[in-house]
Amino acid sequence: MEKALEVKLQDGKKSEVLVANDIKDLSHHLSSYGGNVLWVFDRNSASLFTSLPDQNVVLEPGEIHKGWRSIEIILSAAVEYGLARDSIFIGFGGGVICDMTALASSLYMRGARLVLVPTTLLCMVDASVGGKTAIDFSNAKNLIGSFYPAEEVLICTDTLRTLPENEYRSGLGEVVKHAFLTKNDDLYKFMMDNHEKIMARDRATVSEMVKLSIAVKAEFIEKDPTEKKGIRSFLNLGHTFAHALESSGNFSSFSHGKAVAWGISRALELGVLMGVTEESYQKKCDELLRKYKFDIDYRIGRGDWISFYQALGKDKKKLSGEVKFVLMKGQGEPFLSPVDISLLKKVVITYYR
Ligand SMILES: NC(=O)c1ccc[n+]([C@@H]2O[C@H](COP(=O)([O-])OP(=O)(O)OC[C@H]3O[C@@H](n4cnc5c(N)ncnc54)[C@H](O)[C@@H]3O)[C@@H](O)[C@H]2O)c1
Repeated sequence: MEKALEVKLQDGKKSEVLVANDIKDLSHHLSSYGGNVLWVFDRNSASLFTSLPDQNVVLEPGEIHKGWRSIEIILSAAVEYGLARDSIFIGFGGGVICDMTALASSLYMRGARLVLVPTTLLCMVDASVGGKTAIDFSNAKNLIGSFYPAEEVLICTDTLRTLPENEYRSGLGEVVKHAFLTKNDDLYKFMMDNHEKIMARDRATVSEMVKLSIAVKAEFIEKDPTEKKGIRSFLNLGHTFAHALESSGNFSSFSHGKAVAWGISRALELGVLMGVTEESYQKKCDELLRKYKFDIDYRIGRGDWISFYQALGKDKKKLSGEVKFVLMKGQGEPFLSPVDISLLKKVVITYYR
């Protein structure tokens, strides 16, 4: 496997990101850990194996299972298999499995070893990197968690072959976000130039895209590993809009990544109305979003405004009681700002267009 990147986190901890040539390469690396391991899958990620490795747990898939019960199942299996503190928890799956395996590993004997093998695009470029672990609790997403980076993150884009199209496109929403957040144009150009190969999930092209994308996330995390300086919150570009859209009504046709892409476009439009975003930059971003067929022309109906606005108020990222939006001045220039409600209405409600 090729070492693509080393992400430096708090207290001298770091995660190595390794990229496999193919499944064989990945399997070979995983077998080097020996038998002192616990594998954590969900039913879908487990089906990538014809026969599962020993010492495994297979959970039900989906966000609904991202809770204490699953943590208990993982920890009980660790006890049953006699794992020690130097044993390795291997989270093999999407963001749900990786977040839960990381949390369970951080709790087991006050911290066992952790390796993550993300099998969704979203998890490769986002959830597996940065050390955040979590479960949902009391109807709040990711309310309980810790910072516990994996020592290794193993990327094998072959695992994406079985990923449903909407999940793949959801991951692309986060990649596009990274393309806008970074100072240089590399990821933007790469996505513009390689659209067909990216959509066809060409192994080498997707691996390159994932590496460029992770490097952007790493840039922000390294400057603010525990999310205390506000820098890491720039990674939430588009998310305040997206969460409000997702939780305010019947928008099930929007996967998370699609909602993020919509939210990015709204943040850019809002910035232009406020006179802080360069119009040429907004156009350039919209061009990439349209190329990947994200529905950035969608607007909510007037009748949905109240629930949308209430959902905004519940944004867990709000600081001192005020919702702050990530806006962009230009390429790689995010900043946080409160926004005027009338301008907000203008960019989200259909009536105002
Ligand atoms: N820790 C972080 O920093 C961070 C960042 C972003 C998101 N997250 C979390 O990540 C989660 C979302 O991650 P996700 O989008 O990967 O969701 P997910 O883990 O639910 O995976 C999406 C679906 O794809 C299936 N799947 C996974 N790999 C597959 C494969 N190779 N082939 C076929 N099906 C496969 C899963 O079983 C699931 O049904 C959320 O819970 C979110 O809170 C965490």
